[in-house]
Amino acid sequence: MQFNIGALCAATLLVLVSPAHAADSVAYKDPETGFTFAQFNAQYVIGKYITYRIATPSNVAQGTPYDAVVQVAAPVDVGWTGLAWGGYMTYSPLTVAWQNGNSATVSSRYATAHQAPSLYTGATYTLLKKGTHVNSTYWQYTAKCTGCTSFTGQGNRNVTLNPTGENRVAFAYSRTKPSNPSSSGSAIQVHDVTASWTVDFGSASNANFAELVQRNA
Ligand code: HEM
Repeated sequence: MQFNIGALCAATLLVLVSPAHAADSVAYKDPETGFTFAQFNAQYVIGKYITYRIATPSNVAQGTPYDAVVQVAAPVDVGWTGLAWGGYMTYSPLTVAWQNGNSATVSSRYATAHQAPSLYTGATYTLLKKGTHVNSTYWQYTAKCTGCTSFTGQGNRNVTLNPTGENRVAFAYSRTKPSNPSSSGSAIQVHDVTASWTVDFGSASNANFAELVQRNA
């Protein structure tokens, strides 16, 4: 067996000079709603993206539950989209949403197995009118969630997402539109794509969070 010393050195150097792991999200200030979000573009088919944005209040003590605002912009061919706040499908609040005419339906779900998730009362949503709209190419919703950042995780653990640091979340996409789009209890078909990423909640922080929620309601 022969070693390529040059390649080995180059690989070692690459590891040594790589920056510390950084979040996959970027900060984004939404001119329409005024929220500062941590944003991630999730590729659901080659060259097409669903944009996920999360905004949080500032001055949250570690371990305390807090509200969050979620904004998702999806091309009109997206049947439903889901955000898993715990980074996995199971034992994690699932924010599932789809286009409903000129608006969107948000459905709160939770699963303890890789099966169709049940409705979940532990997280509740208020659609914010200003950031929720549809045009010929995209639908977008913006919603305040109470209960997305604290939940019962695997093994009955109490999980609270880090309000100032990195959290792993995941998405799911289905090309199939729900059968009853006006109902948050509609049946959904299984996803076609899932993936996870790291969100820096530190860059999602908003000093005037409550005021922005009111202004966009
Ligand atoms: C009819 C509804 C659903 C069914 C039958 C289902 C089933 C499954 C199955 C069998 C897997 C493991 C194999 C695979 O990756 O395909 C999986 C993974 C996954 N599902 Fe679902 N799912 C459903 C809805 C959802 C929803 C609403 C979300 C919301 C975000 C979601 C998020 C995920 C994620 C992130 C994974 C990969 C990571 C993990 O294993 O947790 N699923 N699902």
